[in-house]
Parts: sequence; structure tokens; C-alpha cells
Amino acid sequence: MQNYDSFLAEVLIPEETLKERVRELGEEISRDYAGNNILAICILRGGVMFLTDLIREISVPVAIDFMGVSSYGVGSRVSEGQVRLTLDLTTSIANKHVLIVEDIIDSGNTLNSVVELLLTRNPASLNIVTLLNKYSRREVDVPIKYCGFDIPDKFVFGYGLDMDEYYRNLPFIGVVDLEKYEAEI
Ligand code: IMP
Ligand code: MG
Repeated sequence: MQNYDSFLAEVLIPEETLKERVRELGEEISRDYAGNNILAICILRGGVMFLTDLIREISVPVAIDFMGVSSYGVGSRVSEGQVRLTLDLTTSIANKHVLIVEDIIDSGNTLNSVVELLLTRNPASLNIVTLLNKYSRREVDVPIKYCGFDIPDKFVFGYGLDMDEYYRNLPFIGVVDLEKYEAEI
């Protein structure tokens, strides 16, 4: 496993900028949900870093649960439209104020399926917060309530997002030089 600097094209969002924006999102969400509780649903695995940082910036009571979905074929970096549920929630969302926490919305296929599924379970409300948004690649419209950053159509990694499952632990969002990455693995 090589060190990431051999394929890091650029640091797109540095650690401090992420922290600042996550703090702002937390404040905004706290204002909007004043007087209510939130059930934050993290979409595994990419949303984990964002979830744990975000909920510490939220001042209303927050419960968490996790959902696993898989949208990519093996070895692919493009979502295929068909989304598979790999892990379901353990709590009921009926009559709860659900906030879906996602790392990145690309084609929109993953979140669209998740929203359709969760709406059948009668939450009191359902909103989406995504750290990153690749709007130029959208195939299905997804109603995003809170967005950290709009980013260009580049493959990114770090802060929860992986390259073949690794590098989620990096504290910043970097752009991958795919040619260099593929040449070296
Ligand atoms: P969508 O279904 O096309 O919207 O894809 C959403 C999922 O694809 C996200 O939850 C991520 O796991 C993954 N994804 C999309 N773009 C990137 C990227 O640039 N880096 C890492 N993962 C990505
Ligand atoms: Mg991924």
C-alpha cells in the first residue's frame, strides 16, 4: 500500500476549512431543529467521520443509527443505479425527525433509493445533509437540505471517503490523480 502523496493531485479542502464548515452546518441544523430531537442516520461507511464531527456541533438531542448501502460494482468508481441494502437500521424511524448524513452525492442514485425506502417507514420529517456535492454529475434529483461544499467532477478521498477502502482516516479531502493511482497499485 503506497503512501497517498504519490497520487494526491491536490488538497481540495484542508482540515481547518472542513472543521469550520462542519461547525457552521451544526449551528444551522441546531437552529432549524430547535425544540426537537434528531435521529441522524449515517450512510456507511463514508459518512462516519462527518457524522461524528457534525453531531458534536449540534446542540439539540441527537440519536444515531447506521445504514449500509452499496452502489458500485466491484472495482468500479461509478454508481450503477441499482442500490443494495447491506445493513439496515436497528431503530424505528416512525414519527422521528430523521436527518440523513452522507459524505458525497454524485449521481444521486444512492440517496434517492435511501430516501424512497425511508419514506415508506413514516418519519415525522426527513432531511439530507451531505458534506460534498458533485452537482455536475447528477442523474436523479435529490432534495439536499444542507450541503457542506459543492465540488467539481473529480474523484476525491480522505475524511471518510476511500480509495479502495483505504485513506478514510486522512483529515482533509484530496483529489486523486487516477492515472498515477492506477499505475502504482
Ligand atoms: P451516487 O449514488 O452516484 O450519488 O454515489 C454516492 C456514493 O458514491 C457516495 O456515498 C460515495 O460512497 C461514492 N462516491 C462518489 N463520488 C466519490 C468520490 O469522489 N470519492 C469517493 N467516493 C465517492
Ligand atoms: Mg465509497
